[in-house]
Amino acid sequence: MRLGTVKTHFAALVVLVSLVLTGCQSFHREPDNRLYLQLGERAGIADVVEDLLYLIVDDTRISHQFKGINVAQFHRNLTDQLCELSGGPCQYSGREMRESHAAMGITDTQFNALAENLILAMEENDVPTAAQNRLIKKLLPMYPDIRHL
Ligand code: HEM
Repeated sequence: MRLGTVKTHFAALVVLVSLVLTGCQSFHREPDNRLYLQLGERAGIADVVEDLLYLIVDDTRISHQFKGINVAQFHRNLTDQLCELSGGPCQYSGREMRESHAAMGITDTQFNALAENLILAMEENDVPTAAQNRLIKKLLPMYPDIRHL
């Protein structure tokens, strides 16, 4: 093989390898928004949060904690938080969990009651069970900040 031909082949190989690598890189940079899609995007999440609010009002274990809150603000902030957490294109702009729950004296029973109602609200909105579990798993690390210390 002539030197020129070898060079041409080598250059073609370099181009091919860098194309494959670039492809791989953009594949890895792709955000994982599967959970967000399973939740029905922001509109689906907003419906879940709305149903959660109705369930909270009817749940005597926790309803008293929510008396007098700004419902629209709570709905918007929790929707944005769950949207961002599930890989959606939202940005949570509410307060830190530790700050917003500090004065409430939230017990384990109350934390579990809220999680239970969230699962019920997702159930009502036909969110697949695996997606429900995935969302709950993402919320659990917030427990130490929300639970009364
Ligand atoms: C994983 C569990 C929880 C999550 C992800 C969560 C999330 C949130 C978010 C995003 C807000 C809005 C904060 C803001 O507007 O700046 C909020 C506010 C609030 N949360 Fe939670 N929360 C959880 C558990 C609980 C529990 C167990 C209770 C009580 C039983 C509770 C009671 C409240 C109340 C009353 C507010 C309104 C505070 C206010 O506007 O002054 N939360 N929560």
